[in-house]
Amino acid sequence: MSLISIQVNNQAVQLEIDDRMTLADLLRNTIHLTGTHLACELGVCGSCTVLVNDEPIRSCITLAASVSGATIQTIEGFEDDDKMKVIREYFSEAHGLQCGFCTPGMLITVRDMIIREKCQTESQIRKELSGNLCRCTGYSGIVKATQLANQRLNNPEIIK
Ligand code: FES
Ligand code: FES
Repeated sequence: MSLISIQVNNQAVQLEIDDRMTLADLLRNTIHLTGTHLACELGVCGSCTVLVNDEPIRSCITLAASVSGATIQTIEGFEDDDKMKVIREYFSEAHGLQCGFCTPGMLITVRDMIIREKCQTESQIRKELSGNLCRCTGYSGIVKATQLANQRLNNPEIIK
């Protein structure tokens, strides 16, 4: 067992946990933040993406004990985030939402891509998003939403 201290969505959390517990299981089953989705549980699909110290990571293959002392942001922690508000708006408008299962991981990844200015072309967006799999297989709306959100956030003069 390990005693860990983390900040989750600006709240301090201190817990004794099994050394083998993943961060995804800690977030979903112990802290009840179920917006972090689990699908492959192999580090392939990106559904479980959260920010750890502002970096996107796959929480299904991250041991919770290894992030003690870290700041973690799950999809629930972006409620008042200005960039995420814009991204959510365009995912809705451009039909980037289908069943929605991959969406929390997609939104967190897209926000990171926009911050890193990695949305310059459609092919760059598709490459950067290649670590997030959508089982509904409709990437066109997701790519379009990302382009529109990037235009608004990184080139505000282009969009009214
Ligand atoms: S559930 Fe973590 S990468 Fe698929
Ligand atoms: S919207 Fe269904 S898995 Fe992506």
